[in-house]
Amino acid sequence: MDSLTSTATTKKTDAAASSRETLTITDNRTGKSYDVPITHGTIRAMDLRQIKTDPADFGMMSYDPAYNNTASCISRITYIDGDQGILRYRGYPIEELAEKSTYLETAYLLLYGELPNEKQLKDWTWHISHHTFIHESIKKFLDGFHYDAHPMGMMISTIAALSTFYHDAKDILSEESRKKQTYRMIGKMPTIAAFAYRHTLGMPFVYPDNELSYPGNFLNMLFRTSETRYHPNPTLERALDILFILHADHEQNCSTNVIRGVGSSHVDPYSATAAAIAALYGPLHGGANEEVVRMLHEIGSVQKVPDFIKRVKAGETKLMGFGHRVYKHYDPRARIIKRVAYEVFELMGKNPLLEIALECERIALEDEYFVKRKLYPNVDFYTGLIYQSMGFPTTMFPVLFAIPRTSGWIAQWQELLLDPEQKIARPRQIYLGTSRWKSVPENFPAARHTREVSRCTPVPQFRSCCLRLSTVDYELVFSCLPFPRTNCRPAERCGIVKASENSMAELPNNPANAAHRRRSQRVLMQLSVRIYGVDTQGKPFDEECDTLAINAHGALRTGPRNATLHHQGRTGV
Ligand code: CMC
Repeated sequence: MDSLTSTATTKKTDAAASSRETLTITDNRTGKSYDVPITHGTIRAMDLRQIKTDPADFGMMSYDPAYNNTASCISRITYIDGDQGILRYRGYPIEELAEKSTYLETAYLLLYGELPNEKQLKDWTWHISHHTFIHESIKKFLDGFHYDAHPMGMMISTIAALSTFYHDAKDILSEESRKKQTYRMIGKMPTIAAFAYRHTLGMPFVYPDNELSYPGNFLNMLFRTSETRYHPNPTLERALDILFILHADHEQNCSTNVIRGVGSSHVDPYSATAAAIAALYGPLHGGANEEVVRMLHEIGSVQKVPDFIKRVKAGETKLMGFGHRVYKHYDPRARIIKRVAYEVFELMGKNPLLEIALECERIALEDEYFVKRKLYPNVDFYTGLIYQSMGFPTTMFPVLFAIPRTSGWIAQWQELLLDPEQKIARPRQIYLGTSRWKSVPENFPAARHTREVSRCTPVPQFRSCCLRLSTVDYELVFSCLPFPRTNCRPAERCGIVKASENSMAELPNNPANAAHRRRSQRVLMQLSVRIYGVDTQGKPFDEECDTLAINAHGALRTGPRNATLHHQGRTGV
């Protein structure tokens, strides 16, 4: 029996194996058995890599499209028990937070791991409320959007644009910088959202009022007209605050996975958050609240619900706001939202779509199709009705999801950066495309962009390939040719006046090339070339390219000038 000895996991492996927390896998192809350590009910995918049919085999991988059963991180932020319908932030049940805390307190909890004391809350609130203003230039490019631009599109672009204002945001490994960006991000999200909303109405922007609460100020920026001071309705202010608490985090959902994935490249948090907002925009994620209201309008009346449910069961459409990857039980957030909905309706009048929604829920909870698949109302089923009653247009619904989710995204992004096990996210694939080596045809349409070279000069040192200059930025397309060649093919009409090569074996001895070697493990050949000729307009040119690297796939890219040149063997590229 082979025991697995991955260096990264050796300590855990020893501890786990000694307590018999292991899984034995027998590979029936070879008859070999492997003991794989189990930690927290999980095996490490990298431990599978040692399962090989022979030494040249890459090793076993796991295949999990859409991450149905893959933990991508260790987290201490949010806990969900989908079978029981439990949601806790840092150990606190969502029901208690919704009842006893505010959104800003909850955001602090997510980010710092504990609810704030009085002083911490005062400081935190001060910092957030003193980062609510946005640069005047941001107003200018918000103005550039069309009047009917979707506010989520405006949010994505504007949050991404913040990275061009705050250069210190690139310093992601500095705790101070991360704190500053956190204040900015949480402080400015409502301002940008409200400005996007006012822009669609053609109304003047309302500046933040830092004397108001976080949701109160948001309502002020959205709805204030001619009054000198805006006084938010306390019921609506609290309802919005509760909705913000419920949306603050939800462990590794699609958009959080995105901010972790994008953040793992060490890009600044504004760019990473913009990517997360884009993920949230989709109708299967945060855009579902918008779709629910559209669906209820489409159903039109309580009497038509059974017919609509029939269409859902026939697979013609979905019951939006139902179902969840993790919850196989009533979403605990939906329960709280239903209660908040009634409080808002009491003030604003009942939303006429409520009856249709309730009928959908009633039928679905009893119907075999939904029961068997454990499809229950999720957070988005009732939120749209509340937002609509509060006066928001449907396009603003996903924005109302994005604002509070920012604290969860940033908490998760920080956790990623501080986790020594995390690296750039880079999944594997199972390649099932052709294994045949194909050649780009001579008259490939790319020739449209070709700056053709008029004559070909024999190059004695360059024996291996034929170059065709294709794009104006000097990307070179290689033909797949047999070695050795002494010349360029006249048909390709290219000229190479300088090329040199060294043996690949020389590369490891040169320490200056260590980093480059790591990156280019599969590089077969690198060439420094000059090209000259006459382009299709008859203009003569004579230019030196950067180094070109050709890898095993025949891919080509430019590299640093003067990098060591090498070419090995007989592989045609
Ligand atoms: N209406 C009808 N059938 C559904 C629905 C639905 N809303 N959701 C899932 N199903 C069916 C699905 O067709 C499949 O049936 P079968 O086994 O016969 O193929 C089965 O239930 C399992 O669904 P799935 O698509 O494998 O589940 P998933 O975990 O991949 O998808 C989901 C989860 C939320 C994307 C999906 O339930 C859905 O599309 N719901 C509607 C959109 C929605 O409300 N999204 C908001 C999610 S909560 C807020 C958030 O965090 O984003």
